[in-house]
Amino acid sequence: MIFSIGNQKGGVAKTTTTHSLGFGLRNFGYKVLLIDLDPQGNLTSIIGCEKKEFSVLNILLNEVILEKAVIQVEENIDILISDPLLYNVESKINMAGKEYRLREALVANKYDYVLIDTPPAMNLLTINAMVATDRLLIPLLADTLSLEGLNYFYENVSSIKKYYNQDLEILGVFFANFKERTNISKKITEFTTQVINDLNIPLLKTKIRECTAMKEAQLMRKDIYTYAKTSNASTDYLSLVNEILESLK
Ligand SMILES: Nc1ncnc2c1ncn2[C@@H]1O[C@H](COP(=O)(O)OP(=O)(O)O)[C@@H](O)[C@H]1O
Ligand SMILES: [Mg+2]
Repeated sequence: MIFSIGNQKGGVAKTTTTHSLGFGLRNFGYKVLLIDLDPQGNLTSIIGCEKKEFSVLNILLNEVILEKAVIQVEENIDILISDPLLYNVESKINMAGKEYRLREALVANKYDYVLIDTPPAMNLLTINAMVATDRLLIPLLADTLSLEGLNYFYENVSSIKKYYNQDLEILGVFFANFKERTNISKKITEFTTQVINDLNIPLLKTKIRECTAMKEAQLMRKDIYTYAKTSNASTDYLSLVNEILESLK
Protein backbone atom coordinates (compact mmCIF):
# COMPACT_ATOMS: atom_id res chain seq x y z
CA MET A 1 0.00 0.00 0.00
CA ILE A 2 1.42 3.35 -1.03
CA PHE A 3 0.48 6.60 0.70
CA SER A 4 1.36 10.12 -0.29
CA ILE A 5 1.18 13.02 2.11
CA GLY A 6 0.32 16.04 0.02
CA ASN A 7 -0.82 19.63 0.08
CA GLN A 8 0.35 22.43 -2.18
CA LYS A 9 0.92 24.59 0.85
CA GLY A 10 4.16 24.45 2.75
CA GLY A 11 4.30 24.28 6.54
CA VAL A 12 1.15 22.17 7.00
CA ALA A 13 3.00 19.20 8.60
CA LYS A 14 3.44 16.98 5.54
CA THR A 15 6.97 16.03 6.52
CA THR A 16 6.15 15.68 10.22
CA THR A 17 3.22 13.43 9.32
CA THR A 18 5.24 11.25 6.94
CA HIS A 19 7.85 10.75 9.65
CA SER A 20 5.44 10.10 12.52
CA LEU A 21 3.09 7.85 10.55
CA GLY A 22 6.06 5.91 9.23
CA PHE A 23 7.47 5.20 12.67
CA GLY A 24 3.97 4.53 14.03
CA LEU A 25 3.34 1.88 11.38
CA ARG A 26 6.79 0.42 11.93
CA ASN A 27 6.10 0.18 15.66
CA PHE A 28 2.97 -1.81 14.83
CA GLY A 29 5.24 -4.37 13.19
CA TYR A 30 4.96 -3.33 9.55
CA LYS A 31 7.83 -2.95 7.13
CA VAL A 32 7.94 0.69 6.04
CA LEU A 33 9.66 2.74 3.36
CA LEU A 34 9.77 6.54 3.59
CA ILE A 35 10.42 8.53 0.41
CA ASP A 36 11.56 12.14 0.54
CA LEU A 37 10.45 13.67 -2.76
CA ASP A 38 10.90 17.26 -1.63
CA PRO A 39 14.12 18.91 -2.92
CA GLN A 40 14.28 20.74 0.42
CA GLY A 41 14.99 17.38 2.02
CA ASN A 42 13.46 18.10 5.42
CA LEU A 43 12.53 14.47 6.03
CA THR A 44 16.05 13.41 5.09
CA SER A 45 17.53 15.83 7.60
CA ILE A 46 15.07 14.99 10.40
CA ILE A 47 16.19 11.41 9.98
CA GLY A 48 19.81 12.44 9.74
CA CYS A 49 20.55 10.63 6.52
CA GLU A 50 22.07 13.27 4.28
CA LYS A 51 24.81 12.67 1.72
CA LYS A 52 24.55 9.04 0.85
CA GLU A 53 25.42 7.46 -2.46
CA PHE A 54 21.92 7.26 -3.94
CA SER A 55 18.76 9.29 -3.62
CA VAL A 56 15.26 9.25 -5.07
CA LEU A 57 16.68 11.31 -7.93
CA ASN A 58 18.68 8.29 -9.13
CA ILE A 59 15.44 6.31 -9.04
CA LEU A 60 13.59 8.91 -11.13
CA LEU A 61 16.45 8.92 -13.62
CA ASN A 62 16.36 5.08 -13.81
CA GLU A 63 19.98 4.93 -12.72
CA VAL A 64 19.63 2.43 -9.89
CA ILE A 65 17.18 -0.16 -8.58
CA LEU A 66 15.16 0.46 -5.43
CA GLU A 67 16.97 -2.15 -3.31
CA LYS A 68 20.29 -0.43 -3.94
CA ALA A 69 19.05 3.08 -3.28
CA VAL A 70 17.22 2.64 0.01
CA ILE A 71 18.98 3.24 3.31
CA GLN A 72 18.01 1.45 6.49
CA VAL A 73 17.05 3.90 9.24
CA GLU A 74 16.19 1.36 11.92
CA GLU A 75 14.80 -2.14 11.96
CA ASN A 76 11.90 -2.38 9.47
CA ILE A 77 12.11 1.24 8.38
CA ASP A 78 14.05 2.40 5.32
CA ILE A 79 14.32 5.73 3.53
CA LEU A 80 14.87 6.86 -0.02
CA ILE A 81 16.49 10.23 0.56
CA SER A 82 16.05 13.54 -1.22
CA ASP A 83 18.59 15.39 -3.33
CA PRO A 84 18.67 19.19 -3.77
CA LEU A 85 18.98 18.59 -7.52
CA LEU A 86 15.43 17.21 -7.57
CA TYR A 87 14.32 20.79 -8.12
CA ASN A 88 15.15 20.64 -11.82
CA VAL A 89 14.28 17.03 -12.49
CA GLU A 90 11.90 18.19 -15.27
CA SER A 91 14.84 19.29 -17.36
CA LYS A 92 16.53 15.92 -16.86
CA ILE A 93 13.74 13.62 -18.01
CA ASN A 94 11.81 14.54 -21.10
CA MET A 95 10.81 11.13 -22.34
CA ALA A 96 7.23 9.97 -22.57
CA GLY A 97 6.17 8.16 -19.43
CA LYS A 98 8.15 10.43 -17.13
CA GLU A 99 5.17 10.55 -14.77
CA TYR A 100 5.47 6.79 -14.11
CA ARG A 101 9.09 6.56 -12.99
CA LEU A 102 8.41 6.26 -9.26
CA ARG A 103 5.45 3.95 -9.74
CA GLU A 104 7.56 1.60 -11.84
CA ALA A 105 10.35 1.60 -9.29
CA LEU A 106 7.88 0.58 -6.58
CA VAL A 107 6.29 -2.32 -8.46
CA ALA A 108 6.50 -5.52 -6.38
CA ASN A 109 8.38 -3.80 -3.55
CA LYS A 110 8.85 -5.70 -0.28
CA TYR A 111 7.26 -3.10 2.03
CA ASP A 112 3.89 -3.23 3.78
CA TYR A 113 3.61 0.56 3.60
CA VAL A 114 5.40 3.16 1.49
CA LEU A 115 4.94 6.80 2.59
CA ILE A 116 5.85 9.56 0.18
CA ASP A 117 6.55 13.09 1.43
CA THR A 118 5.83 15.54 -1.36
CA PRO A 119 6.95 19.10 -2.15
CA PRO A 120 4.58 22.05 -1.67
CA ALA A 121 3.87 22.31 -5.40
CA MET A 122 2.10 20.51 -8.21
CA ASN A 123 5.06 19.57 -10.38
CA LEU A 124 6.55 16.44 -11.95
CA LEU A 125 7.70 15.25 -8.52
CA THR A 126 4.23 15.51 -7.02
CA ILE A 127 2.73 13.93 -10.13
CA ASN A 128 5.17 11.00 -9.84
CA ALA A 129 4.06 10.61 -6.23
CA MET A 130 0.34 10.69 -7.08
CA VAL A 131 0.75 8.29 -9.98
CA ALA A 132 2.36 5.80 -7.58
CA THR A 133 -0.17 6.37 -4.79
CA ASP A 134 -3.06 4.25 -3.57
CA ARG A 135 -4.19 6.61 -0.81
CA LEU A 136 -3.56 10.32 -0.41
CA LEU A 137 -3.53 12.04 2.99
CA ILE A 138 -3.94 15.80 3.15
CA PRO A 139 -2.83 17.62 6.31
CA LEU A 140 -4.40 21.04 6.90
CA LEU A 141 -3.78 23.76 9.43
CA ALA A 142 -6.72 25.45 11.08
CA ASP A 143 -5.93 28.78 9.47
CA THR A 144 -7.57 30.31 6.43
CA LEU A 145 -4.35 30.39 4.45
CA SER A 146 -4.10 26.64 4.64
CA LEU A 147 -7.39 26.28 2.78
CA GLU A 148 -6.23 28.45 -0.08
CA GLY A 149 -5.34 26.32 -3.01
CA LEU A 150 -7.15 23.26 -1.68
CA ASN A 151 -9.66 23.45 -4.52
CA TYR A 152 -6.91 23.72 -7.08
CA PHE A 153 -4.99 20.85 -5.46
CA TYR A 154 -8.14 18.73 -5.43
CA GLU A 155 -8.76 19.41 -9.13
CA ASN A 156 -5.22 18.39 -9.96
CA VAL A 157 -5.54 15.21 -7.94
CA SER A 158 -8.81 14.42 -9.73
CA SER A 159 -7.20 14.88 -13.08
CA ILE A 160 -4.22 12.70 -12.16
CA LYS A 161 -6.74 10.06 -11.11
CA LYS A 162 -8.57 10.39 -14.41
CA TYR A 163 -5.58 10.35 -16.74
CA TYR A 164 -2.83 8.45 -14.93
CA ASN A 165 -3.95 6.46 -11.89
CA GLN A 166 -7.54 5.29 -11.52
CA ASP A 167 -6.70 3.65 -8.19
CA LEU A 168 -5.82 6.94 -6.52
CA GLU A 169 -8.16 7.73 -3.61
CA ILE A 170 -8.12 10.49 -1.05
CA LEU A 171 -8.00 8.71 2.30
CA GLY A 172 -8.78 11.93 4.05
CA VAL A 173 -8.02 15.40 5.21
CA PHE A 174 -7.04 16.01 8.83
CA PHE A 175 -5.99 18.88 11.05
CA ALA A 176 -2.32 18.92 11.95
CA ASN A 177 -0.41 21.11 14.37
CA PHE A 178 -3.74 22.06 15.91
CA LYS A 179 -4.02 24.82 18.48
CA GLU A 180 -6.91 23.68 20.62
CA ARG A 181 -7.68 26.65 22.74
CA THR A 182 -7.77 29.44 20.22
CA ASN A 183 -11.14 30.80 19.19
CA ILE A 184 -9.99 31.30 15.64
CA SER A 185 -9.12 27.58 15.39
CA LYS A 186 -12.73 26.71 16.26
CA LYS A 187 -14.22 29.06 13.68
CA ILE A 188 -11.84 27.95 10.98
CA THR A 189 -12.39 24.30 11.82
CA GLU A 190 -16.13 24.78 11.24
CA PHE A 191 -15.57 26.65 8.01
CA THR A 192 -13.01 24.14 6.77
CA THR A 193 -15.27 21.22 7.58
CA GLN A 194 -17.92 22.81 5.37
CA VAL A 195 -15.49 23.28 2.47
CA ILE A 196 -14.27 19.69 2.79
CA ASN A 197 -17.81 18.34 2.89
CA ASP A 198 -18.65 20.33 -0.23
CA LEU A 199 -15.69 18.77 -2.03
CA ASN A 200 -16.84 15.35 -0.81
CA ILE A 201 -13.48 14.52 0.75
CA PRO A 202 -13.47 12.45 3.96
CA LEU A 203 -12.49 14.41 7.07
CA LEU A 204 -10.62 12.22 9.54
CA LYS A 205 -11.61 12.32 13.21
CA THR A 206 -8.08 12.61 14.56
CA LYS A 207 -6.64 16.07 15.12
CA ILE A 208 -2.92 16.37 15.76
CA ARG A 209 -2.34 18.86 18.54
CA GLU A 210 0.47 21.38 18.48
CA CYS A 211 3.17 20.22 20.82
CA THR A 212 6.63 21.57 21.67
CA ALA A 213 7.95 18.04 22.04
CA MET A 214 7.46 17.59 18.31
CA LYS A 215 9.84 20.40 17.45
CA GLU A 216 12.35 19.15 20.02
CA ALA A 217 12.14 15.59 18.70
CA GLN A 218 12.87 16.82 15.18
CA LEU A 219 15.86 18.83 16.38
CA MET A 220 17.18 15.78 18.19
CA ARG A 221 16.52 13.66 15.11
CA LYS A 222 14.29 11.31 17.02
CA ASP A 223 10.84 10.04 16.23
CA ILE A 224 8.12 11.37 18.52
CA TYR A 225 7.38 7.98 20.14
CA THR A 226 10.99 7.54 21.22
CA TYR A 227 11.49 11.17 22.22
CA ALA A 228 8.24 11.82 24.07
CA LYS A 229 6.01 8.77 24.28
CA THR A 230 3.37 10.47 26.42
CA SER A 231 3.24 13.79 24.53
CA ASN A 232 0.07 14.99 22.82
CA ALA A 233 1.63 14.65 19.39
CA SER A 234 2.68 11.07 20.10
CA THR A 235 -0.81 10.13 21.31
CA ASP A 236 -2.45 11.90 18.38
CA TYR A 237 -0.25 10.41 15.69
CA LEU A 238 -0.88 6.98 17.18
CA SER A 239 -4.63 7.64 16.91
CA LEU A 240 -4.12 8.71 13.32
CA VAL A 241 -2.27 5.46 12.54
CA ASN A 242 -5.13 3.53 14.12
CA GLU A 243 -7.79 5.51 12.28
CA ILE A 244 -6.00 4.95 8.97
CA LEU A 245 -5.54 1.21 9.54
CA GLU A 246 -9.20 0.97 10.58
CA SER A 247 -10.35 2.79 7.42
CA LEU A 248 -8.37 0.41 5.23
CA LYS A 249 -10.17 -2.65 6.58
N1 LIG B 1 2.12 18.73 16.08
C1 LIG B 1 3.07 19.67 15.95
N2 LIG B 1 3.47 20.40 17.03
C2 LIG B 1 4.41 21.37 16.91
N3 LIG B 1 5.02 21.69 15.77
C3 LIG B 1 4.69 21.01 14.66
C4 LIG B 1 3.71 19.97 14.67
N4 LIG B 1 3.57 19.50 13.42
C5 LIG B 1 4.44 20.19 12.66
N5 LIG B 1 5.12 21.10 13.38
C6 LIG B 1 6.13 22.07 12.93
O1 LIG B 1 5.56 22.85 11.88
C7 LIG B 1 6.54 23.17 10.90
C8 LIG B 1 6.04 22.70 9.54
O2 LIG B 1 5.93 21.29 9.54
P1 LIG B 1 6.43 20.40 8.31
O3 LIG B 1 6.14 18.99 8.66
O4 LIG B 1 7.83 20.73 7.96
O5 LIG B 1 5.43 20.93 7.17
P2 LIG B 1 5.51 20.75 5.58
O6 LIG B 1 6.29 19.50 5.30
O7 LIG B 1 4.08 20.66 5.15
O8 LIG B 1 6.17 21.97 5.04
C9 LIG B 1 7.81 22.47 11.35
O9 LIG B 1 8.63 23.40 11.98
C10 LIG B 1 7.36 21.41 12.32
O10 LIG B 1 8.32 21.14 13.31
MG1 LIG C 1 7.98 19.25 4.11
